[in-house]
Amino acid sequence: MSAMRHFASAEIGIGHNGNPAKLPVLQPTIGPPMADIRKLYREAGCYAYDPALGQTGICRSAITYVDGESGVLLYRGYPIADLVERCSYVEICWLLLNGELPTAAQLERFTHDITHHTMVNEQLHAIYRGFRRDAHPMAVMCGVVGALAAFYHDGLDIFDPLHRMIASHRLIAKMPTIAAMAYKYSLGQPFVYPRNDLSYAENLLNMLFSVPCEAYRAPAAAARALEALLIIQADHEQNASTSAMRLVGSTRANPYACTAAAIAALWGPLHGGANEGVLETLAEIGTVDRIPEILRRAKDNSDPFRLMGFGHRVYKSYDPRAKVLRQRCYEILDALGQRDDPLLALAMELERVTLADDYFIERKLYPNVDFYSGIIFRALGLPPAMFTPVFAVARTVGWVAHWNEMIADPETRIFRPRQLYTGPVERALVAIDERAAHQPLVG
Ligand code: SDX
Repeated sequence: MSAMRHFASAEIGIGHNGNPAKLPVLQPTIGPPMADIRKLYREAGCYAYDPALGQTGICRSAITYVDGESGVLLYRGYPIADLVERCSYVEICWLLLNGELPTAAQLERFTHDITHHTMVNEQLHAIYRGFRRDAHPMAVMCGVVGALAAFYHDGLDIFDPLHRMIASHRLIAKMPTIAAMAYKYSLGQPFVYPRNDLSYAENLLNMLFSVPCEAYRAPAAAARALEALLIIQADHEQNASTSAMRLVGSTRANPYACTAAAIAALWGPLHGGANEGVLETLAEIGTVDRIPEILRRAKDNSDPFRLMGFGHRVYKSYDPRAKVLRQRCYEILDALGQRDDPLLALAMELERVTLADDYFIERKLYPNVDFYSGIIFRALGLPPAMFTPVFAVARTVGWVAHWNEMIADPETRIFRPRQLYTGPVERALVAIDERAAHQPLVG
């Protein structure tokens, strides 16, 4: 862990009395200290400006720790590589929700609870039929998860820990069913019901790929690969979709509506939608000899094109999740008989060339989790449009863990950021027949 410097307080700006304004400094368990700016305006007569909140803590959290400089990711203190190696996804769900790894008895009871919430209300099936068959599955998931709020709203007291636990279990349990139904709907195939005799990952694969006409058993290698992907993508502290969950949740909105907002944020190509973008980029490159052209575009700041799967808001070293997935990629493709997939060879060459390129080295742009998850999702047989829905399945536990932590936090208040106003000062209204002469023409 990086050495932590201790400050009792930070001096900033000039206070009303002409002396430097003093602000308390908050000390985390690990990581850099934070100046508490809640009294900044009172002490220094000014606000702070941080438009993407990249330098600002929005809450206290004990769930996940990310050190972007060292490439460290801990879920409740446990390194991600250890958790992927030794735990199941349902075990990780308990850890993220409760703060400790479950005992065998706790895991058995929790698994039973989650398993017995996997079905959705039959009326929900009708909502899918309101979508075009070619609707993007993330659009369907936004709509269907938001609709859950209509089924579970009356009598929901978010300040009752039991109510929050049931809502959390329902969301974790039903998300695979909802995602798989979106895929089946797009294929024109019948929905497949969840099965209580299958593990979480096997159940999702069965709902995605089985059909009523023949027996199906997910290949063990595919179930292991999916389990690893679910664990790796379960949480990532204050990423955009989790911050969306917290912002909407701070208004005390229904948790299902909050989760629909988080799904909408995850869909963005700069966030969870990047895994789909990775496959689109690899398809556009096509062959190794076209890599230089695509890198030229990626390095041209006048071109909005970004190399999907590279770079990260926080990781300025190799994303530890990409490291785990990179190693697993070969194992999984070997086990699934796809080791000679030309797309993997193209991806490896793209990574090699990019890691040696000064533009990417200077900007500390490394492959991120989405670079490899896209390749593995494809190997599992999913179309690119289904990559982010499965990412949403994995991240639901992170969203609800942060939602629970926020609702239980006495410091929580409704989000209300400030702005740096750049509009006109107060002015008199001009009659419409005099406006052309008195104001710039716009529009
Ligand atoms: C996820 O926050 C999380 O934790 C998210 C996530 C999670 O688990 O929840 O980890 C999941 O969202 C991973 C990120 C997936 N997104 C992508 O792969 C999309 C491609 N990446 C980029 O768009 C970008 O790297 C971001 C959005 C991820 C990060 O952007 P930043 O930190 O705001 O970086 P930046 O845009 O300021 O870039 C710094 C420089 C710029 O060049 P200069 O202006 O300095 O010349 O690097 C360039 C950028 O143009 N740059 C890229 C690039 N990423 C950054 N140039 C080409 N290709 C890229 N991918």
